[in-house]
Amino acid sequence: MAILEILKYPAPVLSKVAAPVKNVNGKTVQLVSDMLETMYAAPGVGLAAPQVGASQRVIVLDVDHENPGKLVYKLINPVITRAEGEVIWEEGCLSVVDFTADVKRAAQVQVSAIDENEKEIKIDAEGLLAVALQHEIDHLDGKLFIDRISRLKRDLYARRRKKMLRSGTEPPKESARVMI
Ligand code: NI
Repeated sequence: MAILEILKYPAPVLSKVAAPVKNVNGKTVQLVSDMLETMYAAPGVGLAAPQVGASQRVIVLDVDHENPGKLVYKLINPVITRAEGEVIWEEGCLSVVDFTADVKRAAQVQVSAIDENEKEIKIDAEGLLAVALQHEIDHLDGKLFIDRISRLKRDLYARRRKKMLRSGTEPPKESARVMI
């Protein structure tokens, strides 16, 4: 296992559509376990492979941060098969430094995927899990939550981020926040 570097906006890989996993092999299993370790260390409740530079359709989630490890999702080639209702959630992302925003999402989703043993998984989710699944699957489509807010707010953030990068100062990590 290894803790990988989490890439930050505007890293190009974050806006690329990730490729489906054709064969689940040892490398996939290794990636999943490294992603989990990286997610817990961040700390975050979800992580998508492009965030660690792997442009593949793999995500991991564990939204119960009070009982880490109790209900872990390792999803390969996840697809949203049903989406219902509407919820506004304040989202943050491990790849979007020092910014959160309200994002409109489906309130309930059903997601199909395979696990590391190529066994089919079906998840019915609501609340944070539903939001996190949509957020992570967005990552696989090259989308960040800032692509789902107003252009004005996104441009303001993009400018602030550029300034941060120019001055070489990264704001301190806010670990109290739920990062997905
Ligand atoms: Ni994210």
